[in-house]
Amino acid sequence: MKRAQSLSAHDGHRRRSPSSTKTTPAPPGAPLSRYGRFNETGTEFIITNPDVPRPWINYLTNEDYCAIISQCAGGYSFYKDCRTDRLTRWAPDGWHFDRPGRYLYVKEGSKAWSAMYQPMRVTPQRFEAHHGLGYTTIATRYEGLECSSTFFVPVEDPCEVWLVTITNHTGRTRALELFPYAEWLLGDYHLELRYRNIMNLYNRIWWEPALPAILAKKTAAWGDLNIQAFAYQAFFASSLPVLGAVTQKDPFLGRCNTEERPEMLLKPGAFRAVPCCSGEDGIALFRHRVTLKPKQRLTFSVVLGQTEPSLVERLVTRYRSVSEAQAALQRTQATWRQRILENIRVETPDRDFDHIMNVWVKYQLSICNFWSRSPSYYHEGSGGRGYRDSCQDAEGIMSINTPHAKQKLLKIAALIRKDGTSAPGWSDTAGPATHRPNKDHPVWLTVTVAAYIKETGDAGILKTRVPYLKDRWIRGWDVDPNFHGPSTTDGEGTLFEHLWHNLDFTFHDVGERGLPLIGHADWNDAIDAAGIKLRGESVWLAQALVRSQKILAELARLIGEEEQASELLRRAQTMTDRVNQHAWDGAWYKRGFTDDGTVYGSSVNTEGKIFINTQSWPLLADMVTPEQKAKILASTQRYLDGPHGLALFHPAYSAWNPKLGRISMFSEGTKENAAVFCHASTFLIVAELMHGYGTQAYKHLKAIMPNAQQDYDLYKTEPYVYAEYLVGPGNPYRYGEGAFTWITGTAGWTFMAGTEWLLGARRDYEGLRIDPCLPKHWKRCRIIRPFRGATYDIEILNPRGLEKGVTSLEVDGRPVEGNLIRPHQDGNVHKVKAVLTLGKEALAVRQETVGQGSAR
Ligand code: GLC
Repeated sequence: MKRAQSLSAHDGHRRRSPSSTKTTPAPPGAPLSRYGRFNETGTEFIITNPDVPRPWINYLTNEDYCAIISQCAGGYSFYKDCRTDRLTRWAPDGWHFDRPGRYLYVKEGSKAWSAMYQPMRVTPQRFEAHHGLGYTTIATRYEGLECSSTFFVPVEDPCEVWLVTITNHTGRTRALELFPYAEWLLGDYHLELRYRNIMNLYNRIWWEPALPAILAKKTAAWGDLNIQAFAYQAFFASSLPVLGAVTQKDPFLGRCNTEERPEMLLKPGAFRAVPCCSGEDGIALFRHRVTLKPKQRLTFSVVLGQTEPSLVERLVTRYRSVSEAQAALQRTQATWRQRILENIRVETPDRDFDHIMNVWVKYQLSICNFWSRSPSYYHEGSGGRGYRDSCQDAEGIMSINTPHAKQKLLKIAALIRKDGTSAPGWSDTAGPATHRPNKDHPVWLTVTVAAYIKETGDAGILKTRVPYLKDRWIRGWDVDPNFHGPSTTDGEGTLFEHLWHNLDFTFHDVGERGLPLIGHADWNDAIDAAGIKLRGESVWLAQALVRSQKILAELARLIGEEEQASELLRRAQTMTDRVNQHAWDGAWYKRGFTDDGTVYGSSVNTEGKIFINTQSWPLLADMVTPEQKAKILASTQRYLDGPHGLALFHPAYSAWNPKLGRISMFSEGTKENAAVFCHASTFLIVAELMHGYGTQAYKHLKAIMPNAQQDYDLYKTEPYVYAEYLVGPGNPYRYGEGAFTWITGTAGWTFMAGTEWLLGARRDYEGLRIDPCLPKHWKRCRIIRPFRGATYDIEILNPRGLEKGVTSLEVDGRPVEGNLIRPHQDGNVHKVKAVLTLGKEALAVRQETVGQGSAR
């Protein structure tokens, strides 16, 4: 009794805070807050006030080049890898200043302003920034002049293009000077941060009249092990005649000035061409002169990019042509529309839900797949891609971009060593990551491969031969004294063998209780001290292992490996028994044991008593009794749920705990210290949906939905993409504030939660399973699901207000036994009607009688 009282201190927060379940979504195109609205079709977010509480950004990108851009054109650009080949500068406090960026200064006589509001921040007569799929348009009006700039990264070339149209709405002729501007970084961002004084000595930037363009490079580049030639050439060009190019930052700004008040533009007579910059901070700036008659409009283009020197001229020539740039914009927009809009679509009673599923979460998921967790406004962009994140991104995008997911999973498979451990990630420029292997990485890829096979029916991929990795790490922790030089390959094996080695490693890499070692972290990167003496154990990892073992057993059966299938199931049972023996805490599972045997995530702890992941994953792994399930769900509701969603654990740590690590260093309620960590919330949401708790899952889904927040002055971050976390209830004053947006596993898991589990059009080995789990008040919904060469237009009816239990299924008017649709593969659209009539209790009884049910 005493324990329950102290734990439920959290409940007090719940009563004081506003409800976060938005019941009446704004009609299409209506203002969402004082900062902006979605357009009528929901494919753009229109920001109407440049002073949003944080930079609200977009990613303009193909798979080679990426420009991060805020509502005022702040942000940075890079080529191939955001650490090693950064074009433009980013400041660590950029989220506050929303600078630097790519800008257009405008001068008329002695008046000056900047067309994207930043950096001069003169209040415009009108401001609108439209973030769309693959483009951003920023339109302002100053002094009767409308300036609309569309930024995009063409699908086919490594550059960004600005298409700028200025319209003179006044009755007078206007003589203007225009100055497009960007600040170079050039090369390795990390080195630049540490050794700016040296790195800028390598800069060479010059005006090349023959192109004409400003060209920029470093003399050479530092790789991890040596110095290499700087292989590329950066460029900046404009379609307007250039009356002067400036390449040095210092004389442009003038002493002690920032971009906000550049001396060369503001001091009368100060402008002069500076065509060469050698060994100091560089910029790219052009001076143009244009005259606009009354009502006249002018369009010009600017291009900024990086590529091999031999290709520069072609790109400069192409995008200095306004018509070519306009055609490229159309192609780019069409490609993104097709990628995002022409696949799965949903239609439910909740417009916010439809909107996020049909457009924005798919877009966010694509960005996560392109650039993993490195570049954002909050993350400095240290480069490379993480292993576990990439496995989940690939699983998430499987149903809408299978080729991308397949390519990624094979790439990840080649990071597995013969001993079953995996390199922690890779960079497209530098190869496999070289730091110590993570203990949790071996459990992730199995699930992604299963998702691929369920999506495509291609079990043959398990026999694909893939190389093993050889590098300096052995036994998942130690350095091989005999290995020198860069990572290489180590023979090959089938994909199935790789996965087997992965799970075999984790099954044997255990501590005194027989639970997997946590090493320097598991899913939770911040529990980084609990196991560094190689004795601490992770209960979550044990549960994740059981889930993967059950799934790999299914894959083994698909290719006739019956013995291995049985062995995997036997091991899964062994691990389940150990988890129950050592980690069941009475009403939930403990989180782990530190090197000295101290338990955490248990009722005996005063802080960090109950963690969400050790409750969601046993449900995902189907390894609990019905009694345990009921207790777990009651405990998560009671201690972790709140108006802003599910906390990662409760209560937050109030002081550094050296036995656990970084998790206890963050301010209470931030990041891994008991934030509402959206990625972890979605684990529980999927678990709830698997087990028939549709109403509860929906409530949790809505609490973190970016477009369904109650108060954007509190939430602060973009209303169109998920945050990594919302500040949790333990924080003294920021509960509910969004943080670290865009690059989070939340996107993939939310998309799967909504489409595969809530609407329940779920890929399975033999076909498409129709197994929705709805909130009770949803009486009718629809999902259009392309699947293995046909499209299923699925209507779900729930006349009795149930949560689960389809008992009547019709395909093209004909009844189908069970809830599985076998693939038609005929290119046609098939009408499906599914009716819920059973309810989850009756369903559970029926499943017990017929002995159905699998891990996933
Ligand atoms: C971040 C990482 C992810 C990790 C999580 C929890 O989201 O990208 O890999 O699991 O934090 O630490």
